[in-house]
Amino acid sequence: MSQHVPEVMISAEEISRRVDELAAQISEEYADKGDVVLIGVLKGSFIFLADLSRRLTIPRTIEFIAVSSYGNRSVSSGAVRLVMDVRGSIEGRHVIIVEDIVDTGHTLDYLMGIMASHRPASVKCCALLHKPVRAEVDVVVDYIGFTIPDEWVVGYGLDYAEHDRTLPYIGIVHPDDR
Ligand code: PRP
Repeated sequence: MSQHVPEVMISAEEISRRVDELAAQISEEYADKGDVVLIGVLKGSFIFLADLSRRLTIPRTIEFIAVSSYGNRSVSSGAVRLVMDVRGSIEGRHVIIVEDIVDTGHTLDYLMGIMASHRPASVKCCALLHKPVRAEVDVVVDYIGFTIPDEWVVGYGLDYAEHDRTLPYIGIVHPDDR
């Protein structure tokens, strides 16, 4: 853990309420679609995926995919590579990619290409956080928990150099704290 306790940007209670709302919206919109495949993007999505998936009232299957950016997230190179693909077949199925954050959009853009090669019936994205001010590619984020300003955020799955992923809230790491 880092020495500094990150300033609260979004409290655990606010996150919980918003995850409830997202789960209700998704459950309603997919009510007549049968099983939906939630694909968590490792590592950052693991807590959001766990909470969101357990609050859905529709049949769902869990998959994971792992990607890696060349370089680090603070200086995006835009180059993404696949580390681990989904295990089960998603052909003809309704898919929701679950992300902790969409920042430059390169990861989601890359994932949409990977998804297309699997020929699902549909693909949407649900991201807890969206940072549009950093967007470098046009991507559609269908379900957004919170739109945030250009701050380095940690907690609820997000890390700073692997620190603070399990913080229960979304916190801000200021440049002086890094
Ligand atoms: C984060 C996050 C997204 C990606 C978004 O992953 O989980 O996958 O960055 O950034 P982008 O929109 O600029 O592409 P990260 O590379 O930090 O890996 P991690 O999830 O394993 O922490």
